[in-house]
Amino acid sequence: MNKTNQLLIDLDEEYIAKCTRAPYFPIVAKRAKGVIVEDVEGREYIDLISSACVLNTGYNHDEVVKSVKEQIDKYIHFANDYFYTEPQIQLSKELVEITPGEFKKKVIFGFSGSDSIDSAIKAARAYTGRSKIISFIGSYHGSTYGAISISAIDLNMKRKIGPLLPEVFHLKYPLSTEMKDFESEEDFSKRKFLEFEENFKYYIPAEEVAAVFIEPIIGDLGLIAPPKIFMKLLRKFCDENGILLVADEIQQGFGRTGKWFSIEHFEVVPDLVVMGKAMASGFPMSAVVGREEVIDSIAMPGQLFTLQGNAVTAAAALSTIKVIREENLLKRATDVGSYIVKRFNDIAKNTSIIKDIRGWGLTIGVELFDEKKIIPSVNLVKKICYRCFEKGLILIYLGGNTLRVQPPLIISDLEIKEAMDKIEEVFREYEQGEIPDSILNEIKGW
Ligand SMILES: Cc1ncc(COP(=O)(O)O)c(C=O)c1O
Repeated sequence: MNKTNQLLIDLDEEYIAKCTRAPYFPIVAKRAKGVIVEDVEGREYIDLISSACVLNTGYNHDEVVKSVKEQIDKYIHFANDYFYTEPQIQLSKELVEITPGEFKKKVIFGFSGSDSIDSAIKAARAYTGRSKIISFIGSYHGSTYGAISISAIDLNMKRKIGPLLPEVFHLKYPLSTEMKDFESEEDFSKRKFLEFEENFKYYIPAEEVAAVFIEPIIGDLGLIAPPKIFMKLLRKFCDENGILLVADEIQQGFGRTGKWFSIEHFEVVPDLVVMGKAMASGFPMSAVVGREEVIDSIAMPGQLFTLQGNAVTAAAALSTIKVIREENLLKRATDVGSYIVKRFNDIAKNTSIIKDIRGWGLTIGVELFDEKKIIPSVNLVKKICYRCFEKGLILIYLGGNTLRVQPPLIISDLEIKEAMDKIEEVFREYEQGEIPDSILNEIKGW
């Protein structure tokens, strides 16, 4: 068969469920290495989204591939729900070490961010004996029933599949992007915290709440964080009311923001941390790591899966941690992130459509508005992304109008310069009216 992107996409559409895909560009991967993806027609792309924050160590990192091959040569799987495997034991020790909190911690392994969110919901309910869960409007926590129930980013996630988990309350996320009308971060935080607390005054008895789930940097809403002071007030509120604080680090974890976990930017220690995506460099693995007494409150076999913590994925995760440490990737994320933010600030001098540039390491959001900076523009961001794709970049958008810049942490100086030069060119072409509206028919996305 003569493989072309379109031929394979047609087959994909014939056989694969629509609910599992939000296609941005017609790229069918043939091979990938480092930050470069090659499609079946031989075109190469620099991936600026790390396959949705999965490839923090880049595609097929030699170390990861080596450790996976070595483990496969020993054994692929052994029934670790009845017996024991060494990679899993070693990995749990490492995870406990890199996760914030100077208390005794334990690990529950999973396969996707979503099912580990469910683990955290179960642990929070079991430990506290309470049923209510708080999460935030705009958050994405995943697609299992529990994770969908606490998400609030897309009506289609809730349509036609109910009833969902009961006793879930979605409150307003304190978006720092709304801080501009306030005199100081402290004023803004106090105001937002007051609004948060009001929910517990009028209709949610705090003593019935098991946990607050928060993305410390909310991802799919457009990469926005609350102010640090708000996060500290939230921690205090949880402590005073016997509520657990759960950080969803599935998108921002494993070095992406220049720290192992993004909650560290707020100097707040959560009771549970949920991780996934990047942890095994592309192998399906997730985990919830946190207070031993909370984790161990789920009765056996309340969260047991046959392939949980599989030996090959555990080996991949162990080498992912090793690579992040040995290649000093936390610092690298911070340094490259500063360079990207600087380049976008330079671009912003010559365009009227960039409204906000925000970044933590290699999580960078660039928000685009119409020329008058009044209306968030989905069409603008689509045009920019599509033209980038035509120039060999994989760059998408979140929250409707925010460019999602989250490249692999191993991206070289040369590669990121090449990518930023192309992005600069695209903005120039936009300013000169060279990106036609017809491009809008080509890109669907989320
Ligand atoms: C913040 C966050 N939480 C949870 C999830 C769900 O993870 P998964 O798709 O691995 O189930 C995602 C996925 O995008 C995410 O970004």
